[in-house]
Amino acid sequence: MSFFVVGTDTEIGKTVVSAMICAKLADHGRPAYWKPVASGSSEGRDVEDVARLSGVEVIDETYLFRDPLSPHLAARSEERWVDPASLTQRYRELLEEAPDRGLVIEGIGGVHVPLNDDGYLWSDWMQELDLPSVVVARSTLGTINHTLMTLECLRSRGLKILGVVLNGPTNPENRSAIRDFGKVPILGQLLPLDPLEGEGLKISSKTVDLEGKLLAALR
Ligand SMILES: Nc1ncnc2c1ncn2[C@@H]1O[C@H](COP(=O)(O)OP(=O)(O)O)[C@@H](O)[C@H]1O
Ligand SMILES: [Mg+2]
Repeated sequence: MSFFVVGTDTEIGKTVVSAMICAKLADHGRPAYWKPVASGSSEGRDVEDVARLSGVEVIDETYLFRDPLSPHLAARSEERWVDPASLTQRYRELLEEAPDRGLVIEGIGGVHVPLNDDGYLWSDWMQELDLPSVVVARSTLGTINHTLMTLECLRSRGLKILGVVLNGPTNPENRSAIRDFGKVPILGQLLPLDPLEGEGLKISSKTVDLEGKLLAALR
């Protein structure tokens, strides 16, 4: 079984939290990281960060665009088009290649990011796959609104939410508001790391209660 790691926004910590989850799950099973659609390759690739930070198997992007733009715009600028059917086909191939492998699938931007000029959204593809999600949210001011909206959006599409991982400095009030008002488990909190490297991330992951739910989802 596989799951999504989605965020309330871009630059919110999806990649770092995906790496932390992969490193943690590698002690128990065979996770692999996949970012199906990525933009901004001119500034680096999430897949390289996750490989460096977690050491787990990573799978090449199905669509990789140069400019750091919403995928519908990044694709348009290269006269390309994200075809959801080819994403789904790739997903099926990955499952067939290694049925014992659990995919940790990183989203792009927030969940309503458009993938193409038809207005097909990332959340439409999530619904097509019908996999559960981990939601990454920042811990600081503004997170309650963004996180509750993201949870509502996923639930309105009938998607299961495994829980929220908060990223940033500790903020107990925001944590309890998201847990209580969003009726969602907080799987953990990732504090700011300096330097950001694999060993520190692995140590941080010990304070995050990921195993129960995520391992169950991976199986
Ligand atoms: N807990 C953290 N400690 C240190 N740096 C972080 C942390 N979380 C995120 N960052 C940094 O913030 C930036 C955005 O994080 P990233 O995981 O790439 O976000 P997203 O995948 O949601 O766009 C990156 O440069 C990343 O290295
Ligand atoms: Mg990312």
